[in-house]
Amino acid sequence: MAGIWFTPLTLLLLLAFSSAVRSCSPSDLAALLHFKSALHESRNGIFNSWTGTDCCGNWLGVSCDRDSRRVAEISLRAGPVYTTFEKPYRPDYMSGYISPEICKLTHLSTLIISDWQGISGEIPRCISSLSFLRIIDLTGNRISGTLPADIGKLRYLSLLSAADNLITGEIPATLTSLTGLTHLDLRNNKIRGPIPQNMGQLQMLSRAFLSGNQITGSIPGSICHIYRLVDLDLSNNHLSGPIPESLGRMSVLSTLKLDNNRLSGSIPGRLLASGINELNLSHNMLEGIIPDAFGASCYFTLLDLSYNNLKGPIPKSMSSASYIGYVDFSHNHLCGPIPNSYGNTDASSFAYNDCLCGKPLKAC
Ligand SMILES: *[C@@H]1O[C@H](CO)[C@@H](O)[C@H](O)[C@H]1NC(C)=O
Repeated sequence: MAGIWFTPLTLLLLLAFSSAVRSCSPSDLAALLHFKSALHESRNGIFNSWTGTDCCGNWLGVSCDRDSRRVAEISLRAGPVYTTFEKPYRPDYMSGYISPEICKLTHLSTLIISDWQGISGEIPRCISSLSFLRIIDLTGNRISGTLPADIGKLRYLSLLSAADNLITGEIPATLTSLTGLTHLDLRNNKIRGPIPQNMGQLQMLSRAFLSGNQITGSIPGSICHIYRLVDLDLSNNHLSGPIPESLGRMSVLSTLKLDNNRLSGSIPGRLLASGINELNLSHNMLEGIIPDAFGASCYFTLLDLSYNNLKGPIPKSMSSASYIGYVDFSHNHLCGPIPNSYGNTDASSFAYNDCLCGKPLKAC
């Protein structure tokens, strides 16, 4: 029935008509055009679609709120989405910087500009005035400068990712006010200074990745209050002091990576008797014995205690663990017999100790 109306000509007229009258908020339009002019992307022509006056129309990566018709989302993710499969794979590339004009997009709730490799400059300070922001994902660029000091004002923020950039400075103290934050990823930057002692205030946090920075100081014991935390990666930093015993009391913590730091003291027994499945404490300065604290509830897919100063025997209770997949106790000062159940393990898992013996090493 509609067929007679939608001849190609009427369609064309309709399209021409609608784009002539339809226009998004003039301030959003102006802000987006400024944003566009600060970035350069030639390979995929993403910004070719950013023409006309209706930024809520078919601008690639821009979405608007239905009712207010204000820009709610900028989502520009490099990768397979924009690559055609016929061409040999070349990573997507965009250069330029993020214009502070985006702060005029007052209804923005999602800002994703990720994996473009070449985007540099700083995160606009004014971003913390975008009070509806829920998602900031700037992963995989060359963004430098510090995180905005007043980022804690973004009270709806649930995801903050700026991993794989060149961000410097400290973790802003206000970050711990982001009580709705579920996902924090600042991996592989140049962040210095301590982890805020009151990090435990981030009650909604389930995944926290701060690895590959230059973070110093001790691990805040308050982290144990984040009872939703599943994944904590603080590896490859300059952390010192002991491992808080309280980390072994977290009910859903499954992955704990503290490797390649300067942690000292002994391994809390509770950590081994906890629900953690992946534990890497390798390359630290941990000393004392391996606690005789394994039990039937232990299920480790990965247990790496290599490159520390651990001494004494391999605890007997280790045989009672319900599963230990990958194990590495090498490069310590352990001594004594290796439990029978590890006879088929690769010898390198026990090598470079003082006097471990039995299979897979030589007989005692
Ligand atoms: C544990 O951490 C060390 C040091 O960062 C790393 O070299 C090693 O590969 C990690 N272990 C596993 C099994 O991933």
